[in-house]
Amino acid sequence: MSKTEIRKEFLPYSLPMIEEEEINEVTAALKSGWIAKGPRTIELEKRFAEFVGAKHAIAMNSCTAALHIALIAAGVGPGDEVITTPMTFSATANTIIHAGATPVFVDIDPETFCIDPAKIEEKITDRTKAIVPVHYSGQACNMDEIRRIAKKHNLFVSEDAAHAIYTEYKGKFIGAEGTAACFSFYATKNLATGEGGMLTTNADDIAEKARVLSCHGMTKAAWNRYGKGGNWRYDIEYPGYKYNMFDIQAALGLRQLDKIHRMQERREEIARVYNEVFGAMPQLIIPEAPSYAKHSWHLYVLQLDLSRLTIDRDKFIEEMGIENIGVSVHFIPVHLMSYYVNTYGYKRGDFPITEAYFDRILSLPLYPSMTDEDVEDVIYAVKRIAEKYSK
Ligand SMILES: Cc1ncc(COP(=O)(O)O)c(C=O)c1O
Repeated sequence: MSKTEIRKEFLPYSLPMIEEEEINEVTAALKSGWIAKGPRTIELEKRFAEFVGAKHAIAMNSCTAALHIALIAAGVGPGDEVITTPMTFSATANTIIHAGATPVFVDIDPETFCIDPAKIEEKITDRTKAIVPVHYSGQACNMDEIRRIAKKHNLFVSEDAAHAIYTEYKGKFIGAEGTAACFSFYATKNLATGEGGMLTTNADDIAEKARVLSCHGMTKAAWNRYGKGGNWRYDIEYPGYKYNMFDIQAALGLRQLDKIHRMQERREEIARVYNEVFGAMPQLIIPEAPSYAKHSWHLYVLQLDLSRLTIDRDKFIEEMGIENIGVSVHFIPVHLMSYYVNTYGYKRGDFPITEAYFDRILSLPLYPSMTDEDVEDVIYAVKRIAEKYSK
């Protein structure tokens, strides 16, 4: 069986799954009169901490804010170096710079596409203060090895878990263990509040500092100073940031969290179908999770075997556009962005595994509201292009 017709309507690369429940909860938040940070944000923090199995969760207005706060709370500052990977969104590295430190990149592991632990130690100097591993696409990093290195060199670990809502490492959700994990609730993420994020930690001191820092540096329970029993007096312990989540976002988050298992099941189902079909095609390489991990399927990153195709990745994407299917690329390596080239002198060739991977990847639509027909359309478009340009 093969579809011959091109899809009539454009299939967006990603869409959040917003239903009546989210709309009603946002309306209730609006009607309650409490639209800034309030009881819904506090409830989401509590429920998210329970969900991942972390001791604390502090809600932020983005994952970017959480990444920045985690480093500041850990005492990272000017003159320090922080190790991360170039196969990430720029926010991972930008926030290291916001903290006053210098990002130091380590190439990725060719199997997981996350930071290669075997290459971390050669980049550690006496200025290194932290490691920010990225659970790329929803794949878990090799955390045992990263934590072993961090412990040996007394480094703080802040996990970029933007893609890792529902990622399991050795049977536990990311966030259940460790000093800091930073999640994103951006519109495309596995749990979406439009913009939003969460910092989870098992360290009491990091949690306390993150709470204060993310709300101007104000002392305890600043959010409730206008509520009954709230105190108008506060102090500023540090010139903090305005990074906190607010209740309209949290209203979305609460109802999204209610259905996170259902949404995840659909992601897994779609990934299974894609893997089955694309795994049998010689022109394509499918994503696979290592044995120690469970993928969150935030992204479905397909690799092209360029040696078996007559076109490159950019042309493949152009063809997907003609097929009316939205796709994306995650990521253009950060070290090749102008600021990083101009400031640190990075160039092509510095991180060969990242660069070769970048040249052959595209991310396909994968989200819970996709119908079976949408999934079929993606499959047939990919098949048609791969077969048409097969060597
Ligand atoms: C790996 C990674 N880290 C951090 C972020 C930043 O997340 P946010 O948009 O919530 O600030 C993103 C966003 O897509 C991301 O993909």
